[in-house]
Amino acid sequence: MCPPDFFGVAYIINPWMEGHYARTDADKARAQWLGLRQIIERHAVVSILPAHEGLPDLVFTANAGLVKGQKVLLSRFRCPERRQEQEIDRAWFVQNGFAPIDPPPNVFFEGAGDALYDPSRDLYWVGHGFRSDRDFAPLLEAALDARAVELTLVDPRFYHLDTCLCPLPGGYLMYFPGAFDAASREKIESRVPPSRRIAVGEQDAVQFCCNAVSLDDLAIMNDASEALQDRLCEAGLTPVLTPLSEFLKAGGAAKCLTLDL
Ligand code: ARG
Repeated sequence: MCPPDFFGVAYIINPWMEGHYARTDADKARAQWLGLRQIIERHAVVSILPAHEGLPDLVFTANAGLVKGQKVLLSRFRCPERRQEQEIDRAWFVQNGFAPIDPPPNVFFEGAGDALYDPSRDLYWVGHGFRSDRDFAPLLEAALDARAVELTLVDPRFYHLDTCLCPLPGGYLMYFPGAFDAASREKIESRVPPSRRIAVGEQDAVQFCCNAVSLDDLAIMNDASEALQDRLCEAGLTPVLTPLSEFLKAGGAAKCLTLDL
């Protein structure tokens, strides 16, 4: 995780940021970020990437890269506004003993924001349409010696895959069907049986429920309706709600603020 010392909305690169330019509350953001960190620290060890002035989105460490074992497939950001983050991320990974792999030149990839490991199926769900490049899946397969399934995002509000899809333990998959094209919904439906699909409605989706940190049996998220909380409990999971409204203004929530190492 990276503390929100310099977090804010300083440019507009997704629809959530519109209308929020310079409108985040630094104290509230810090309190919300600490709330998330404290919940995670009860179940995992948190390593810190120091914040950098002038890089307001560095808090969203999900976009630093994609880690598998000691390997890290580094990000190459589509938006020039975030490209300076790359060398800071790379330096952190090297200092902490990870072996960095660069995406091929001119290929965009936004890390764990667009590539989610599904432990029940031993595959990565890989998103494209807004940020990471189409056809990134075979590159990921080669770089990380893994299987990947490509999904096409069609709703600009759900521009990273982790804003609309979340693999959960027990073979469950929470997702917002409206964020995907028909072929991608079919790919999901052919691999995840109906009893294991947790399809959420738009009201939950815009609260970033799918941007959940899945840790042990917990699904840590900004917010969820009673119905969704009940559904998660039926699946043997424990929804943990922790408000992250300041980060929603930048288009991110719980999962975006973390990177699974
Ligand atoms: N403002 C950031 C951007 O648009 C938010 C990134 C959220 N990260 C994520 N993994 N969804 O790039």
